[in-house]
Amino acid sequence: MTSDGGQVTSEVHLWWSTLNQPESVGDVLSADEQARAARFHFARDRRRFILARGMLRHILAQYVDRQPQEIKFQYSLHGKPRVADPPTDLEFNLTHSEELVLCAITRGRPVGVDVEHLRPMPDLAQVAASSFSLVEQIALFALKPDERLRGFFNCWTRKEAYVKARGNGLRMPLNAFDVSLKPGEPAALLANRLDPAEVMRWSLAEVSPAEEYVGAVAVQGQGVRVELHRWEPGEDVPVREPFAGLRATSTPIFANGKEKN
Ligand SMILES: CC(C)(COP(=O)(O)OP(=O)(O)OC[C@H]1O[C@@H](n2cnc3c(N)ncnc32)[C@H](O)[C@@H]1OP(=O)(O)O)[C@@H](O)C(=O)NCCC(=O)NCCS
Repeated sequence: MTSDGGQVTSEVHLWWSTLNQPESVGDVLSADEQARAARFHFARDRRRFILARGMLRHILAQYVDRQPQEIKFQYSLHGKPRVADPPTDLEFNLTHSEELVLCAITRGRPVGVDVEHLRPMPDLAQVAASSFSLVEQIALFALKPDERLRGFFNCWTRKEAYVKARGNGLRMPLNAFDVSLKPGEPAALLANRLDPAEVMRWSLAEVSPAEEYVGAVAVQGQGVRVELHRWEPGEDVPVREPFAGLRATSTPIFANGKEKN
């Protein structure tokens, strides 16, 4: 049960780790993943892909009770991976930025996650004009200047998490829906002008992993609880306590994207 007596119908497990991992984490990649890794131009991108995909396989293996290298993925038309073998109702989504990897896992409902390194954005106004809705741009520029960067990344990661959860790339125009962005206010899908019922279908939550990162998770349904887990190589048992460096602003999340403590 949630703290307000509401029913938790589903959990999202949010696994996080840094890329400071031994190379052996990537030993479990399939041949096609290794081929994809080899195509990266920059060694840094290659390393990030290998470690994040290795971590993903190790985590999923705990849920499906297989060896990490036995898992087979299939990809949607727009590239969203899901577990094809073994057959499962597990749903997951992965994001990485700089040194951080986040992986969201749930069952039977689409999930999307995004994290961004909080960095200076000299072209913030141009990016907002091209990627945010009018409502969001107005909310962004109503913020005090010292809140604007975080507001920008709140908006970006919430939009991206929603788009990634839907899994259909950018087929939903980014200016057709609004998310909340004001720092300190709950993450929420506020409107979707193409399908107003979407607002009731999705829960959004802020994930603030360490000071210099901003993130969001979007999951279909209401009464959803997000639990943070830290992943370390060699640990097969889920780590239940949130890491001290992670502000657990994401737990729990509720209907209509309203977050409560
Ligand atoms: C994959 C995509 C959805 C996100 O890319 P990104 O932000 O660079 O990368 P992230 O680290 O957050 O996520 C990448 C992971 O998402 C997953 N993914 C790939 N395609 C996906 C899709 N269509 N939907 C959901 N997840 C997807 C993969 O696991 C991928 O990891 P991998 O590359 O190691 O296989 C990208 O193709 C995209 O369309 N981005 C939109 C960018 C944009 O303009 N956003 C505006 C927000 S306001």
